[in-house]
Amino acid sequence: MRVGAVLRLDPCQKCLLTRRYSPGLTAKGLAYGMNPPQAKKRGFVGGRMDLKDKTAIVTGAGRGIGAAIARRFAAEGARVVVADLDANAAQAVAAEFGGLAVPCDVTDEAQVQDLVARAEAQFGPVDLFCSNAGVFFGEPDHAASASNDVWQRCWGIHVMAQVYAARAVLPGMIARGEGYLLHMASAAGLLSQIGDAAYSATKHAAVGFAESLAISHGDQGIRVSVICPQYVATPMLGYDEAAEVTQGLLTPDAVADCVVEGIAQEQFLILTHPEVTQYIRFKSENYDKWLTNMRRLRRSVLDPDGRFDLQAMLRGESARK
Ligand SMILES: NC(=O)c1ccc[n+]([C@@H]2O[C@H](COP(=O)([O-])OP(=O)(O)OC[C@H]3O[C@@H](n4cnc5c(N)ncnc54)[C@H](O)[C@@H]3O)[C@@H](O)[C@H]2O)c1
Repeated sequence: MRVGAVLRLDPCQKCLLTRRYSPGLTAKGLAYGMNPPQAKKRGFVGGRMDLKDKTAIVTGAGRGIGAAIARRFAAEGARVVVADLDANAAQAVAAEFGGLAVPCDVTDEAQVQDLVARAEAQFGPVDLFCSNAGVFFGEPDHAASASNDVWQRCWGIHVMAQVYAARAVLPGMIARGEGYLLHMASAAGLLSQIGDAAYSATKHAAVGFAESLAISHGDQGIRVSVICPQYVATPMLGYDEAAEVTQGLLTPDAVADCVVEGIAQEQFLILTHPEVTQYIRFKSENYDKWLTNMRRLRRSVLDPDGRFDLQAMLRGESARK
């Protein structure tokens, strides 16, 4: 799909990363009170968490954002496990960099346990688990009109899969005093996705679960980040891998760049689209006004039958109305 100019910004421009990080420090770990050997053990090299020789699992990595993150982790020197419902897609991505492909339905806890066991047997203890897999269905009519099955599937993949992942790796990470849980949510988990209440509600829950992990286990050496992108040109939104995209719609590779930067800085909230920070601030300062604006945005992208038209929004038509 070719609908406009590709938005290719420098990762540092795209990621709204706090500037408290000081690249001059030998190890950011020093700022956490670690001595240099401890910081080195934690993988901080030259002020960055070093993914080299780390074991990382990425779910939903057969395509889209997950595949881009897996490729980027491999390029950083990590031993990467590519997990996906689609075994062939996982195999194809893993073959690009000599990773391990594991077919896995992340909504099945036994399969997640097996995924971790296979990763550890091949590569050793899991240092980083990236729960990325997700689904997007839209809703047929009003905000409660999606079927119970759709709501359960959104809950299963956006929330319970992340619970299963944490349950599988946390005991080992706590025992080792280190580990990284990287959770994919969405800007919809902080704001809202017009036209998909099940997606929005379960992505909010994903952010809430990540917050609990960070609060409960930060003192045990567990780091947690939650990624909250707005729109990204992937098959989920009907774009192919080589998509050329409109303003505000990032490539999966650009998201992967932001993720690696966010990990390096151990940033809890990884915002790939800088404008989301302004939206969150506006929402928290004036919730009712924010809802009014969202209603106006929704009205501006309704199709002739009165249904929300996501593609119209991606084409930026709302801005012209
Ligand atoms: N594309 C966007 O605009 C966007 C924006 C914000 C957040 N996200 C989130 O990013 C993540 C990746 O999205 P994407 O756009 O790359 O989607 P995508 O549909 O292109 O890829 C999703 C991958 O997850 C896999 N998957 C689906 N169900 C699974 C299951 N039960 N077990 C294992 N794997 C499963 C699919 O096979 C697919 O390979 C999702 O969590 C999505 O909600 C996407």
